Amino acid sequence: MSDNKTHFGYQTVDESEKAGKVAEVFHSVAKNYDIMNDVMSGGLHRVWKHFTINTARLRKGDKVLDIAGGTGDLSRGWAKRVGKEGEVWLTDINSSMLTVGRDRLLNEGLILPVSLADAEKLPFPDNYFNLVSVAFGLRNMTHKDAALKEMHRVLKPGGTLLVLEFSKVFKPLAPAYDLYSFKLLPLMGKMIAKDADSYQYLAESIRMHPDQETLKQMMLDAGFDSVEYHNMTAGVVALHKGVKF
Ligand SMILES: C[S@@+](CC[C@H](N)C(=O)[O-])C[C@H]1O[C@@H](n2cnc3c(N)ncnc32)[C@H](O)[C@@H]1O
Repeated sequence: MSDNKTHFGYQTVDESEKAGKVAEVFHSVAKNYDIMNDVMSGGLHRVWKHFTINTARLRKGDKVLDIAGGTGDLSRGWAKRVGKEGEVWLTDINSSMLTVGRDRLLNEGLILPVSLADAEKLPFPDNYFNLVSVAFGLRNMTHKDAALKEMHRVLKPGGTLLVLEFSKVFKPLAPAYDLYSFKLLPLMGKMIAKDADSYQYLAESIRMHPDQETLKQMMLDAGFDSVEYHNMTAGVVALHKGVKF
């Protein structure tokens, strides 16, 4: 990609435009985000998130930062793990997503600190968190390298980053997955959320996102050690884990 240009799905746009376009998508989908996740993944996103939450080695009292936390699925899981003596921040760059997330957690009796925060410029001190998570968020960020460095900065030495993200599906399944992504997804988006374009962007952004090995290298470049990943659902998603030494 040439200087100052980046991808927004399959479109090439100025870097300065991407965050605004991503913001439009998530302002538009926020209200129907949770129901669409269940419908589109047949409930599988719950299994992927459950696995992510169970992968973390957390203790009561730990501090966790959920980046691009949206409607709060991971934050809820982290809050249960660290208990009342712990600290879990639900953060996102998008006020509509964050409002849905905050209200949802409040309705469940969970009062967590919530902050509007850009992953590329995190408003947190160095060496503060035991765990940083980002689920289905990194794909949407303009400067993924800068965001990964910020995640590294705010982690304590010994702390862990978990990146749950769509990834490269195993090759034999690619034709069926393409059919599903480019025909059914936008159709479901149109019928349920009255928004085909956002779900077309979803399918395209998944294809443009770095594959498992590339993301592993990006995490190493950002300063993480012991980087490893675990494929789920034949590589539809992967959970990458890195440690700050
Ligand atoms: C697909 S949603 C994921 C929400 C939630 N983590 C989940 O797994 O259900 C992606 C989220 O990334 C957020 N996002 C995009 N760019 C961001 C950035 N630069 N910093 C923080 N959040 C960002 C969007 O606003 C959106 O809420």
